[in-house]
Amino acid sequence: MKRKKIAFITGITGQDGSILAEFLLNKNYIVHGLKRRTSTLYSTHRLDKIYQDKNFKKNKTLILHYGDVTDGLSCSQIIKEIMPDEIYHLAAQSHVAISQVTPYYTTMVDSIGTLNILEVIKSIKEKKIKFYNAATSEMYGTLKGKYLNEKTQFAPQSPYASSKLLSYWFTKNYRDSYGIFASNGILFNHEGATRGENFVTRKITRFVAKYHYEKKNILYLGNLSARRDWGHAPEYVVAMWKMLQYKKPDDFVIATNEAHSVREFLIEAFKQIGVKITFKGTGSNEVGIDAKTKKIIVKSIKYYYRPNEVEALIGNYSKARKLLNWKPKMKFKSIVKLMVKEDLKIYLKEKNNS
Ligand code: NAP
Ligand code: GDD
Repeated sequence: MKRKKIAFITGITGQDGSILAEFLLNKNYIVHGLKRRTSTLYSTHRLDKIYQDKNFKKNKTLILHYGDVTDGLSCSQIIKEIMPDEIYHLAAQSHVAISQVTPYYTTMVDSIGTLNILEVIKSIKEKKIKFYNAATSEMYGTLKGKYLNEKTQFAPQSPYASSKLLSYWFTKNYRDSYGIFASNGILFNHEGATRGENFVTRKITRFVAKYHYEKKNILYLGNLSARRDWGHAPEYVVAMWKMLQYKKPDDFVIATNEAHSVREFLIEAFKQIGVKITFKGTGSNEVGIDAKTKKIIVKSIKYYYRPNEVEALIGNYSKARKLLNWKPKMKFKSIVKLMVKEDLKIYLKEKNNS
């Protein structure tokens, strides 16, 4: 019988890590994940779906290990014990605005965390472990009238983006200097039903679900004109896996070649509950109004504006299409629809449990 491949995922409790774990288990991998100690038991809620699958106990192996990517010693012990074939390094302080108030911490996790894992791989001589690094479109900074690809110059605009750029370079340097199979996935924004609640898409879809049932409250946001290239997270984890199955390590942009504004996201999300939203004012004085009731339901406020905001990002995924045979499937409107639909269900579930 063929030996099962072993994967190790840092950031397994996050949006991408949990979706990737499910994908790899379905591909018959043995999956190990790194989880942090938290004061509640619920940091693993995104993995519940896997544990609740009735085939799980019979056929699947998912093992979680306590640790932290800033703790090189614990990472080394775990990796040497499990000797994975592939490491998917997704752990990060991944919120751009929060990186502006925690720049040191963000750098320790997002840059030094990556270095710690690469050093362990470098020290292991008996196995060639493949490494995927979660790089990001934020490394480019504001789009200057072009579709961004692997050759575009980076110009990070936040501690998050700068620390991810260092992590990108560590990955590239360890590939070039030590022959490690280390690839960077330069992923543009990707969303889904399990997206963190303080990213703009999920913040909106959670509010819309609540508004549908309660018909009250105002959603406070920042820059409604910001444009992002939003894809569907489950498709993006497939690209991560494809990068590590490719014949050689390399760097790849994963995107949809389309961008939409936060305002467009709002229009589409409210449409799902039959609400037409119109806008008045500009910048941090802009408001969104329920066209039927004439009530203000969205307000842009300075508090959520970022210093040195990245105004727009659009990617060009041609290289991934050509070399990895990867392309995005779900379009913007379907992503919004799916997220609102799931949040309507979650609202009712939470209500019934309270
Ligand atoms: P996420 O939902 O915020 O998940 C981050 C994960 O990292 C969580 O499992 C978190 O654990 C873990 N983590 C944070 N600090 C850690 C530490 N010190 N040690 C160990 N684990 C730690 O992020 P995501 O959206 O899944 O994104 C995955 C990766 O892709 C991140 O590196 C992100 O920066 C990058 N990325 C994301 C996107 C996107 O649009 N989603 C686009 C480009 C790049 P807890 O659950 O304990 O907090
Ligand atoms: N979070 C948030 N909250 N963003 C808002 C808000 C708000 O109330 N109002 C407007 N925005 C704008 C932000 O200023 C930004 O321009 C855009 O909405 C998207 O913000 P986020 O959803 O927080 O995502 P991000 O683009 O900053 O970062 C995400 O994508 C990156 C890839 O480009 C994260 O997932 C990063 O980890 C990832 O690297």
